[in-house]
Amino acid sequence: MPNRTKLIAGNWKMNNDVAAAAKLADELAEALPEVPEGVEVLVCPPTIDITTVHARMQAAPIALGAQNVYWEAKGAYTGESSCDMLKSAGCTYCIIGHSERRGYFHETDEDMNKKAKALVAAGIVPVFCCGEPEEVREAGTYVDFVCNQVKAGLEGLEIKCPKQLVVAYEPIWAIGTGKTATAEDAQEVCGAIRETLKEMFGEELADGIRVLYGGSAKPGNIAELVAKPDVDGALVGGASLKAADFASMVVKAGE
Ligand code: PGA
Repeated sequence: MPNRTKLIAGNWKMNNDVAAAAKLADELAEALPEVPEGVEVLVCPPTIDITTVHARMQAAPIALGAQNVYWEAKGAYTGESSCDMLKSAGCTYCIIGHSERRGYFHETDEDMNKKAKALVAAGIVPVFCCGEPEEVREAGTYVDFVCNQVKAGLEGLEIKCPKQLVVAYEPIWAIGTGKTATAEDAQEVCGAIRETLKEMFGEELADGIRVLYGGSAKPGNIAELVAKPDVDGALVGGASLKAADFASMVVKAGE
């Protein structure tokens, strides 16, 4: 099995004003002066907090990401940020396709595809989210549903190295609900995603692409999740807002 670096990624969502973001960034930098070998750490604050968090965490081994991007380079797109803007603020990753953006903001597979391509062209790693709603899980068609999201969202994406892309499987019924998928559930779908990535990008690249699990991941379940062969870390919402919890997940992922 290829030796993929695990990724523990925090998605702060719409939490923390500038002062609270500075405080959390300081706490994280203090809690994680170094990270275990074989683990990478990422935090994705709200756009308004990115420069503050970047300044506070400069000395820490923690990468910075955004939660959204627009694919055009510049111009009259009120409220949006471009890839180059994110890059100039210190971002090396960007979450796209989160179910909250697909649901509340009506973003489509086509939008994700344009965002993924613009990010890769700019040298930012997309963290492409996918995941099924509860009714699809109950109908039993979730593997096809998720793999189709991956195919549509990443179609035609050109990557040369596996570190240029991260995929996060986040079953919607497990996000923010406290209902975690079991490690077996996570492995089943993450494994199927990897097979889809093999069809799309070839075996060698797909073997190195990180596939994360997200949805009520926390200190108590991270170890069993990352013990699964195709689960390469987690996209963490709620538990990423407390420095001690998030830091303990990083440590446990490295054990
Ligand atoms: P949660 O969120 O950890 O609070 O369930 C995960 C996510 O939506 O990225």
